[in-house]
Amino acid sequence: MKHVISPLDLTVEEIDRLLALADDIIDHPQAYAHKCAGKKLATLFFEPSTRTRLSFEAAMLELGGSVLGFSSASSSSATKGESVADTVRIVGNYADVIAMRHPKEGAAGVGALFAKCPIINAGDGGHQHPTQTLTDLLTIHRHKGRLNGLTLCLCGDLKFGRTVHSLVRAMMRYQDVRFILVSPDELRMPTYILDELDAGGFAYEETDSLEKGLAQADVLYMTRVQQERFANREDYLRLRDSYILDGEKMKLAPAEMIVLHPLPRVNEIAPEVDDDPRALYFEQALCGKYIRMALILTLLEQAGGFEKPCAAQIC
Ligand code: CP
Repeated sequence: MKHVISPLDLTVEEIDRLLALADDIIDHPQAYAHKCAGKKLATLFFEPSTRTRLSFEAAMLELGGSVLGFSSASSSSATKGESVADTVRIVGNYADVIAMRHPKEGAAGVGALFAKCPIINAGDGGHQHPTQTLTDLLTIHRHKGRLNGLTLCLCGDLKFGRTVHSLVRAMMRYQDVRFILVSPDELRMPTYILDELDAGGFAYEETDSLEKGLAQADVLYMTRVQQERFANREDYLRLRDSYILDGEKMKLAPAEMIVLHPLPRVNEIAPEVDDDPRALYFEQALCGKYIRMALILTLLEQAGGFEKPCAAQIC
């Protein structure tokens, strides 16, 4: 059974195939409109989401499948104390594939131990968010035409931001990639990611200067300071506006640089940047639907999900 808990669960060949499939879905949506007829996606969201949950649901509906699930822990039996393991055991009876978001790091990995169907991690605490990364890679690839040989400047909350943890892990699969890690000292990239960069011999630098980072970037990846992960609200309030990308800073950026953000944004990209042709974050959010279509389709194919059920399977 294939689960996607971290980008490390996908080989570079698998990632490249998913990107190619998503491109084909974008070009020929009607060819995929009935591919998942009779199949069900369960969205188990124990933590709030707009993009991830709704793009998963739109993805399955556009593949001709159905969707069930919940959008908050408070509307599930988690409020009665039911474990992730039991929830996944039960929902696996109703669904062919599960997308799960949970505030605890490692929750999706636990779910995968007990699931009868593929589990997709839709974000586990401050840990990993692999389908956001696939979304990011699709956007970058469609605009840059490659994933090798790029300089990525990642800016903001690199400590709690699961999107940047997953993006670095995925980009470490590609050649001649360089990372510029821009954050306040208190929100630096976790040691386990830096250790992986060191072990892989990757070029990276840490700085607190957004101006310095963006001047060298092919891709600027802005992130929100993750208020929901802070133990102390005072710390959040002090750090939340550490970096604000505005029109003046964009003047310092290369003409070919692209700006991504997993969204939601709070204050870290001024609205005036939205009209800059380098600002791709809304298009990026749309890419999320297509790459999730590609992932659902691929996981169901790998799970043998398109064979007709026989009586023995039903019994
Ligand atoms: N990018 C992202 O994960 O957004 P949501 O929290 O709205 O799903």
